[in-house]
Amino acid sequence: MLRVEFVNLGRQYDALRDEILDAFDRLSRQGAYVFGSELEAFENEFASYCGTRRAVGLGNGSDAIHLPLLALGVGLGDEVITAPNSFVASAWAIARTGAKLVFSDVGDDMNLDPEKAEQAITDKTKAILVVHLTGRIARMEVFESLKERHGVVILEDAAQAVGARRNGRKAGSIGLFAGFSLHPLKNLHVHGDGGICVTNDEKLADSLTRYRNHGLENRNECLFWGVNSRLDNIQAAIGRIKLRRLEDWNSRYREIARYYNSELSGVVETPTLEDNEEPVYHRYMLQCDQRDELMKHLDDRGVGSAINYPVPLHLQPAAQSLGYKRGSFPVAERLADRILSIPLYSELEDNEVEHVVASVKSYFQ
Ligand SMILES: Cc1ncc(COP(=O)(O)O)c(C=O)c1O
Repeated sequence: MLRVEFVNLGRQYDALRDEILDAFDRLSRQGAYVFGSELEAFENEFASYCGTRRAVGLGNGSDAIHLPLLALGVGLGDEVITAPNSFVASAWAIARTGAKLVFSDVGDDMNLDPEKAEQAITDKTKAILVVHLTGRIARMEVFESLKERHGVVILEDAAQAVGARRNGRKAGSIGLFAGFSLHPLKNLHVHGDGGICVTNDEKLADSLTRYRNHGLENRNECLFWGVNSRLDNIQAAIGRIKLRRLEDWNSRYREIARYYNSELSGVVETPTLEDNEEPVYHRYMLQCDQRDELMKHLDDRGVGSAINYPVPLHLQPAAQSLGYKRGSFPVAERLADRILSIPLYSELEDNEVEHVVASVKSYFQ
């Protein structure tokens, strides 16, 4: 039986092995591990890819949203709104600043609904952290109007959306800052944890370069208590090798997603896009009422799948003190019961993609 793994990182490594090993060898001989020319070059190339002035490499994608919040002075007494159907990092990045974490429901695109978010704005709301879930950019043009009307800052959790476009604008180039994850499960990843924050705000970027390095201005002068959260030089070198291939990989992600859409719409609920969207399908999520049985059926046929994510953030034990309950966010809760991510990565072969489709269809026949 053909097996289609939900994730297969080895295939990408095999294709790039010589280049990655060369970089590893060269940098190891130089002993250039923490900071260095590869990190600087990757930051410049990544900023240019996103269309922003600056990029700052960090230890992980969680810090790429948490540290800029700290750098902006978000903290006790402030409120920050985000989506309840994201990965936990979107929530803790806010909660750990001391600000009040405020959830607001999502729309059919699985992203924060700007009309509902507007209703959650109070005079304490400092920012809205918009998550581009599954690699699909949220309705940022409406969020930008909230910025003007309410004076709130619009921020992007673009962890899943590297290279995505909406109205021709790239993920990361729209909010005051955007945090990206370079975790191995992301379309652009390094070989371990990594993250990068982009912004057009020079002051914010300068502040972040100190935050990630203990708040140090130079070797002996500490301006404030920062953290140790740096993207390693070797990881940056790997990021550079992969960034050069990202557009091709994302095209393949889209090609497979188009095939899934055309074959599976009418069988299950598939994502419906507006004309102005160019997602990167970090995840391809279908929806159906029989999700758990379908997942088991796929497993029996050798097809891996996953639920991203089965428990909405407002129903997590960590969120108990916020006072939300089941029913607080009906759209996010319904999604959590119905979504299923099926395999989607650029290295998938056509026969594997066809096997995924046939396996989904066979459940409903
Ligand atoms: C939406 C979202 N935000 C933040 C993160 C955090 O990134 P990292 O795992 O690199 O810390 C992730 C990673 O899974 C994510 O999917």
